[in-house]
Amino acid sequence: MSRKPIIAGNWKMNLLQSEAKELFSGIKDFVKQYSAEQLPIVVVAPTFTSIAAVESQRCDCGCRNLLFTAGQNCYFEKNGAYTGEISVEMLKDAGCEYIIIGHSERRQYFSETDEMINKKAKAILSNGLIPIICCGETLEQREAGVTDTHIAGQIKAALESLTEEEISKSAIAYEPIWAIGTGKTCDSDEANRVIAMIRNVVKEISSTSAGDAVRILYGGSVNPSTIEEQMSKSDIDGALVGGASLKVDSFTSIIANTMKVAV
Ligand code: PGA
Repeated sequence: MSRKPIIAGNWKMNLLQSEAKELFSGIKDFVKQYSAEQLPIVVVAPTFTSIAAVESQRCDCGCRNLLFTAGQNCYFEKNGAYTGEISVEMLKDAGCEYIIIGHSERRQYFSETDEMINKKAKAILSNGLIPIICCGETLEQREAGVTDTHIAGQIKAALESLTEEEISKSAIAYEPIWAIGTGKTCDSDEANRVIAMIRNVVKEISSTSAGDAVRILYGGSVNPSTIEEQMSKSDIDGALVGGASLKVDSFTSIIANTMKVAV
C-alpha cells in the first residue's frame, strides 16, 4: 500500500519571527517549483509566536497545498484557566493542520505522560487535525534490550480508544532519544525494523487497514545524506527533522532527496 511520505521540520525553540519568515520563504521558493503530487507532504513546526508570520506568507503565495504548518505541542482542554497553554482549536485557528505530541523533550523536561498524549491525540483528531505522535527509547533502554516493549507500550497508550479511522489518519514518529541532536543516526535497517514492529502493534490493537495506512516517520539526526537510504526502506514513511530543518539548504535537500526515491 502506498503512503504519501511526510517530511516535517521541527524548529523547536529556535528562530525569531524575522528568521522564521526567512527560512519559510526559502522553503516556499523550493516547493513552488513542484506540484503537490511530486512533493512529499512538507510540514514545518515553528514556535507558537512565529506561526502567524509563517502562515501569512503561506496564504499569500498560493502554496497552501504544498506546505503545511504544525504546532509543536498543544493542550487537550478546549479553553479555560490553563495559564500558558494553547488549545488545538487555537492552533487550528492559527492555520495549523498538524500537531506534534509526545516529543521526548516534552516527556523529559515537561513531564508529558502517555495519558496526556492520548488525550491530546483525541483532541487533535476531534478537531480534524493530524497528530504526529512521537515515541522512542533511551540508550539505557536500548542497551537493556527493552526497546520494542517500551515503544509498544507508548504506542498502545497513545492510541488507546482511538477509532480505526482516526488511527489511519494519524502519523507516528519513531525517534530514538540517543539519536536526537547527536549526529548519531539509527541504522536504517534497524529503524525500519522498529517501525515495522510499531505497524504490527497498530494492526494488533486496531486493524490491518489502520496499520497499513498510518504514516510512521523516523526522526533523529536526519540529514540530506541519510534520507535517501532511510526513505528506500519498506516501512519508513518520512522524517521528523530537527537541526537540519533550520537551514533552507539542508531542509530542501532532504525534500529533494526524498523525491528521488519515495513520492
Ligand atoms: P534532530 O531532532 O534532527 O536534531 O536529531 C529530531 C527531533 O527531535 O525531532
